[in-house]
Amino acid sequence: MHQDLDAYWMPFTANRQFKKSPRLLARAEGMHFWTPEGRQILDGIAGLWCVNAGHARPRIVEAIQRQAAELDYAPPFQMGHPQAFELAERLVKLTPPGLNKVFYTNSGSEAVETALKMAIAYHRVRGEGQRTRLIGRERGYHGVNFGGVSVGGMVANRKMFGALLAGVDHIRHTHDLQRNAFSRGQPAYGAELADDLERLIALHDASTIAAVIVEPVAGSTGVLIPPQGYLQRLREICDKHGILLIFDEVITGFGRLGAPFAASHFGVTPDLMTVAKGITNGCVPMGAVFAQQAVHDAFMNGPEHLIEFFHGYTYSAHPLACAAALGTLDTYEAEGLLTRGQGELAAYFADAVHSLKGLPHVIDVRNIGLVGGIELAPLPGEPGKRAFSIFLDCWESGVLIRTTGDTIALSPPLIIEKQHIDRLVGTIGEALKRAA
Ligand SMILES: Cc1ncc(COP(=O)(O)O)c(C=O)c1O
Repeated sequence: MHQDLDAYWMPFTANRQFKKSPRLLARAEGMHFWTPEGRQILDGIAGLWCVNAGHARPRIVEAIQRQAAELDYAPPFQMGHPQAFELAERLVKLTPPGLNKVFYTNSGSEAVETALKMAIAYHRVRGEGQRTRLIGRERGYHGVNFGGVSVGGMVANRKMFGALLAGVDHIRHTHDLQRNAFSRGQPAYGAELADDLERLIALHDASTIAAVIVEPVAGSTGVLIPPQGYLQRLREICDKHGILLIFDEVITGFGRLGAPFAASHFGVTPDLMTVAKGITNGCVPMGAVFAQQAVHDAFMNGPEHLIEFFHGYTYSAHPLACAAALGTLDTYEAEGLLTRGQGELAAYFADAVHSLKGLPHVIDVRNIGLVGGIELAPLPGEPGKRAFSIFLDCWESGVLIRTTGDTIALSPPLIIEKQHIDRLVGTIGEALKRAA
């Protein structure tokens, strides 16, 4: 097949490398993609941490088709449609107690912006309008819009874009190879890193801080799993100082850790929670923010004819996205997928990824639920190149993995079976043996 690749400026892609040696996907079903030439590719990353139920699932496909014919679009401002309300009711049955209000967006990045604005506005409607400061974390990833990049902690995503938002600070990240390398599940050391928030509170004063945002498990910066007790401690400090805690569950939401949300898995409930990706199984763009009842209620004052929160998107609660999400929840429920990534399957996955210890270049292996991280020693002076070569090698062998820096990140569809795990990890192992 000959196709002109010139006009498309691809996102987060080495464009020149790609166009010299394209990697095209033409079809997908279950655990696999197929290239235009018909080569089968095992999906080791659920598309991009989103296709949690696997590809082309009939309930989702039919729901989208039906909805497109029935109601293609409905304005979301001052208007509604039944599926938006039905979906919200179903979603809040899955969230930890209290997180029972849903605000729809179209992506994880938009969910993050929405949550940050909600937090600042929440303090203002309560008469604490001086609480505007936002605290993120080093090595955090919260999408690509200005708020998310500002609270995020990925140097490459920040350095090109100027001064970003004012009034933002960052606590330290939790990655500690010296103490925690090759931990299975949550590492033992590092709960005290949550106390870094107290340092920033001492510097800025709690009365100026609106919210702290963290990923319960950081994915995009290389699968960083929270040390035991860390998230609990962060929650305690936020409570002590009246600061809202936001969990960015864009990748951890919808079963990735073997529970509906990371908040449920870790037993720590945030005030606001952002999701996207798995909410529609990646089939139609959608994100959402879940808010505690009390956060929502703080806005519900003033004259009833006035808009309470001046925020929203043309495509908030888009009918096709709502239909896709309802079909997705049906699929998750029918197949028990939101809790499949725990127990025996998670243990098998953990054994498989940890079997890579001892292979060339492997300096750490991390896992939780159906998430795996394999960190490689970088090639001297060429960070990221070694992991990228493993990515290319696996692609040639028919397996799709993802790399970030020199970490291989695995997040397969939750329908994965043991033979797929063997193939996924076996292919990576072979590629590691070949790698420079
Ligand atoms: C934790 C987290 N937040 C936000 C985002 C951004 O989501 P989107 O790409 O849908 O804007 C991502 C994407 O990977 C993410 O991992």
